[in-house]
Amino acid sequence: MNYRLPALEDYEILKEYVIEHYSNHERSISASLGMTNMKYEDWVEKVNRNSEKADDEWGRYYLYLAFDKDKLVGLLNIRYDLSDNLKELYGDIGYGVRPSERRKGYATKMLEYALQVCKEKNMKEAILGCYENNYGSNKTIIKNGGILYRTSYDEKKLSDEWTIKLKNNYYKIKL
Ligand SMILES: CC(C)(COP(=O)(O)OP(=O)(O)OC[C@H]1O[C@@H](n2cnc3c(N)ncnc32)[C@H](O)[C@@H]1OP(=O)(O)O)[C@@H](O)C(=O)NCCC(=O)NCCS
Repeated sequence: MNYRLPALEDYEILKEYVIEHYSNHERSISASLGMTNMKYEDWVEKVNRNSEKADDEWGRYYLYLAFDKDKLVGLLNIRYDLSDNLKELYGDIGYGVRPSERRKGYATKMLEYALQVCKEKNMKEAILGCYENNYGSNKTIIKNGGILYRTSYDEKKLSDEWTIKLKNNYYKIKL
């Protein structure tokens, strides 16, 4: 798989991606951070800018288009610079896979890649939030080493919070 930030030229493939979700009766596009509520050009500009410069809402983040060969299969959002309270609210990582490409292992690979990026950013753990009845996402997290640490009510739904350890804690021992 390969991953890159969106560009203006991606308009048509993203339009097709969104239409596929709508045809599947899905109204929100996971990990798109407002793509369908903004002018496309503004969204591309914002996403590229925020990969380096923090914005108030999401800090610095990568919003990657995830491709298998030439096909856009999913969106991956790595919010590697969130403050602690926003981490608890949003989690560090978000992802979505287009309906026709689900259950083929893509989300598992995308999360694995996101965790690698988080490690490179020197994060010690990643926090992910997911509704309890989202079996596909729960399993994706478990397959990547997720440990459930809290369950709460969010908009009247049970929401699980998961943590994935990224680095071992080594202690220097003076001999
Ligand atoms: C959740 C989602 C990302 C899973 O993507 P995916 O590419 O289908 O996931 P994978 O193929 O990597 O599957 C991971 C595991 O979950 C299982 N799984 C996937 N969808 C499932 C479902 N609907 N019900 C039960 N198990 C499911 C797979 O079988 C696999 O387990 P296995 O290896 O033991 O067979 C995808 O369904 C999606 O985009 N949903 C809408 C957006 C969303 O919910 N995003 C996550 C928000 S927290």
